[in-house]
Amino acid sequence: MRWKYAATLDGRIAAADGSSRWISSPQSRQDVHRLRAEADAVVVGSGTLLADDPQLAARGVDGAIQPLRVVVDTRARIAPGARVLDDAAPTLIAVGEDADTAHLPGVDIVRLPAAEHGLDITALLAALHTRGVRSVLLEGGPTLAGAFVAAGAVDAVTGYLAPALLGAGPAALADAGISTIARALRLDVTDVVRLGPDLRVRAVPAAVRTTDPTDAAADPTLTTVPQES
Ligand SMILES: NC(=O)c1ccc[n+]([C@@H]2O[C@H](COP(=O)([O-])OP(=O)(O)OC[C@H]3O[C@@H](n4cnc5c(N)ncnc54)[C@H](OP(=O)(O)O)[C@@H]3O)[C@@H](O)[C@H]2O)c1
Repeated sequence: MRWKYAATLDGRIAAADGSSRWISSPQSRQDVHRLRAEADAVVVGSGTLLADDPQLAARGVDGAIQPLRVVVDTRARIAPGARVLDDAAPTLIAVGEDADTAHLPGVDIVRLPAAEHGLDITALLAALHTRGVRSVLLEGGPTLAGAFVAAGAVDAVTGYLAPALLGAGPAALADAGISTIARALRLDVTDVVRLGPDLRVRAVPAAVRTTDPTDAAADPTLTTVPQES
């Protein structure tokens, strides 16, 4: 599961007024379309859906196989006219067991158990696995990303860092259940490239950073879990 986000250099993914288009450069955004085309499913939370009305299709990628677009929307707040429900790619709306979906006839719905906040992330991933999804691109927002990190479900991170400052507005990651620096989720950077004016930083959690058995042999605390799944 790869989590991707676009942030300013001070780590903001939107401005204080909620506007977030476009933090990153056209080159970074094209790279995101490539990531979508490589994923079996692209996932966003209801907050992003309601704020941005994203389409989430892979555009401008030759031969792209469209990912399953997934909205994590406990109360089925999505409007029938949402762009993610167009015919550019298949879409699945994950809702709570008692959500009213009468306004969504014909929409593929999966009902999932509740967690403390929102839906159970493990149940969501199991439901996606049942549908043949083996690689997931999580596109946010920060609240849902925090829940995925807290669930230990993020095994790769791609950050697009734009050379801009906002000073206010939401951070890239909301509460992930980490309250002290000793418990920070440490990452290993796997590569850094420039995309137009931006930096793209890719990283993996330090404990899953290698598939190289020689590294794991050298350090028995490292596992050989693949970097992406
Ligand atoms: N720059 C970027 O890369 C980027 C990317 C995405 C979004 N954004 C920005 O982020 C903002 C929206 O972020 P957000 O944090 O409000 O929304 P979000 O993370 O997309 O969605 C959060 C919502 O997801 C639902 N949810 C369902 N199950 C959940 C669970 N287990 N844990 C947490 N949430 C769960 C909850 O609402 P219900 O339970 O009611 O469904 C929750 O309020 C917008 O301003 C958008 O523009 C920026």
